Amino acid sequence: MAMRSAVLGLAGAAREVPSVPASPQSENQRIMPSEHGNAALPTLLGNRGQFQKKAGVKTDSSVQSVSWTDFRPDLDHKLGSGAYGFVYPVEGSPDKVVKVFSRGDWSEVVKESSFARDMKDHDPEHFVDCLGIGVAPETPSSKQQKHFAVFEKADGISLGSAAHRFHSPDGIDSVGQALNVLEQLIDIMTGMMTPDVNGKLHFHLDLKADNIMMSKTKETDGKAAPKITLIDYGVVTTCSEGDPSAQSSVLQMFRWLGWEMLWTLSSEHFRLNAENPWDQLPEGFFPFFQRSEFRPPAYQTQQLSPDLLKANLEKGFFDAVLSPAFRGQWSNAAKAQNIMGKLIGDLFYGVALASDCKPVDLDFKMIKASLQELQKLAIA
Ligand SMILES: Nc1ncnc2c1ncn2[C@@H]1O[C@H](COP(=O)(O)OP(=O)(O)O)[C@@H](O)[C@H]1O
Ligand SMILES: [Mg+2]
Repeated sequence: MAMRSAVLGLAGAAREVPSVPASPQSENQRIMPSEHGNAALPTLLGNRGQFQKKAGVKTDSSVQSVSWTDFRPDLDHKLGSGAYGFVYPVEGSPDKVVKVFSRGDWSEVVKESSFARDMKDHDPEHFVDCLGIGVAPETPSSKQQKHFAVFEKADGISLGSAAHRFHSPDGIDSVGQALNVLEQLIDIMTGMMTPDVNGKLHFHLDLKADNIMMSKTKETDGKAAPKITLIDYGVVTTCSEGDPSAQSSVLQMFRWLGWEMLWTLSSEHFRLNAENPWDQLPEGFFPFFQRSEFRPPAYQTQQLSPDLLKANLEKGFFDAVLSPAFRGQWSNAAKAQNIMGKLIGDLFYGVALASDCKPVDLDFKMIKASLQELQKLAIA
């Protein structure tokens, strides 16, 4: 079997971006014999690497200043916390949240806020607006002044939690919904690759499952459909189309898509409240997120092709990585396995090239078309 379902991976801080491929500190590398000639694909890796936060980009002056007293946090109902702060509902305004920054400087708060404003104009359905930013007064417990930003509240729960809630109405409870989430993510990414009215591109580069909110809406046919909203604009970049950072941002997004594909389709294998999600990549997939020279030989880009990956990963992915519940939800499982194999082959070949920062023809359209084909075969 080319793939097993156990999970292992790499460690790092909560706000890691897979922007700088990890350096190798090989441990636990195992190469399994392949069923497909000499193309042995390792199935277990315990490499630990470090990614770096993107350097800050310019700020915008159109950001509104607001008063703390107008947006007091409801401290008893904390919504979440991350590396940069705490997020609370606004007292008396259930549709807003206030993010209180425990560290970081003012320009970072401005940057989050202006990204929110730009994306709310550009793709209003999938982003939250920022109503303003300000400085919180000192309190007896905190002598230090803290910055805050007020955002629209995104409905639902994070994809991180949704993926674990198969049997609950607010979770991803069918493979059809998982595919729908992926399709929306591709639409969101396509939006980010499309210039706004000022000719600028805006990229969210921290697309981990905690920063993707999912709610369920009732469709006319009575079925529930997921709706995706991106939050946490702490690692973003704005640039012009020809800018070199546009290309590297697209490559990064593509790598996130690879990760989200695993997260949504194999999520039963991931553990909530465990270590960093990157620590939990299904074994066999981690090397694609490293730079070629740091991968085991069989994974090095020149050894790979979409067809080879399809051949190696198709059956293993379906049998061992896809959630057990999702395996049974196809009208034609053999066909689904075949389409998914090609999708995984193309996608992870692209991820391998993207991790090398190599120019690659990233065909988001073709991936979306495959997801739609799969959707037709999904019975739930
Ligand atoms: N606009 C929002 N709507 C709903 N929940 C939010 C919103 N912003 C943040 N949260 C919750 O708070 C958590 C931390 O916020 P986030 O902006 O991701 O902070 P950090 O930069 O520290 O990761 C999120 O994972 C989410 O659960
Ligand atoms: Mg976050």
